[in-house]
Amino acid sequence: RKRIGVLTSGGDSPGMNAAVRAIVRVAISRGCDAYAIFEGYEGLVNGGDMIKKFGWADVRGYLAIGGTLIGTARCASFRERKGRLSAAYNLIKNGIDALIVCGGDGSLTGADVLRSEWPGLLEDLIKEGRITIEEATRFKHLTVVGLVGSIDNDMSSTDITIGAVTSLHRICEAIDSISSTALSHSRAFVIEVMGRHCGWLALMAAVSTGADFVFIPERPPISDDWESEMCETLKKHRDLGKRMTIVIVAEGAIDKNLDPIRPEYIKKLLTDHGLDTRVTTLGHTQRGGKPCSFDRNLATIQGVEAVQAVLRATPDTPSPMIGIRENKITCEPLMKAVELTRQVAEAIAQKDFRRAMDLRDPEFSE
Ligand code: F6P
Repeated sequence: RKRIGVLTSGGDSPGMNAAVRAIVRVAISRGCDAYAIFEGYEGLVNGGDMIKKFGWADVRGYLAIGGTLIGTARCASFRERKGRLSAAYNLIKNGIDALIVCGGDGSLTGADVLRSEWPGLLEDLIKEGRITIEEATRFKHLTVVGLVGSIDNDMSSTDITIGAVTSLHRICEAIDSISSTALSHSRAFVIEVMGRHCGWLALMAAVSTGADFVFIPERPPISDDWESEMCETLKKHRDLGKRMTIVIVAEGAIDKNLDPIRPEYIKKLLTDHGLDTRVTTLGHTQRGGKPCSFDRNLATIQGVEAVQAVLRATPDTPSPMIGIRENKITCEPLMKAVELTRQVAEAIAQKDFRRAMDLRDPEFSE
């Protein structure tokens, strides 16, 4: 009988609860036991009542609720081997032999590290007298499966991550609200959106709201005179009769020297060009609130696939990551996706913006 633990880690994202609900219920219906691990890796490291067996009813009502009800954390101790040793101990003591993690690339990498260190961790636990040889034999292999929960949509090898579409909706609603006041006063607004080093939220929000200008990390302005060119474009829009100006700045936006482009700087440029300008940082409103139906469905279907992946796994198969491509649920090696994600950051650091854009989305970069 498989015992499957589930945890959510890193920044919460809308739809994580739907994923937990699906995992718990599918695990139970396939004859497995399901365990919720609270507060992300903190719960795994600390054990005790932070690891609880979940029944069918424990996840009732989860679908419609934002954030993650089992809690999350950015856990420093799990980054140390000592923390991972405690995590291994707590898994074994709870009889858990499979772990499904829903989080961003850092969180999923952590799970794979735990799996690759597993034999050494078992040896240390035996040496320290914390587990018996029989226990080590019984828990010889740890199965790890990753689900990508992040509003940033910054993971390679999947078209969309759990929570990104809800967040995009929230951003669009906020920009629609801002637009009515901007229009009334004939103002300009510089709006900063989340996304860490990824420009997906900013770019899609700009397309969805018909923004006048957008700054994203993957394609910095390359002209030496981009400031004047931007102001010229904005003026052209005004000359065509537009009574408001919306400029979206991704929080990770940079110029061609990799220096951050800050909303306050854009505000100054616009003000100097005679536009009455305000800055709005949307902040965590973008991450909170009810998941939209897309994220509930995505998380549910991927949760089902995650349990199937646990049941299919062999000691030799690399840890899989559940994704979605061209509307089909996928199951690909987790570390390959992490590596591709890392290559995007590397391309940006090397100022190879074309490659960064291609790696993110070859079709869009055309
Ligand atoms: O990764 C999700 C995210 O919301 C990013 O967009 C943002 O940069 C970061 O997390 C904010 O983190 P925190 O909630 O820890 O301030």
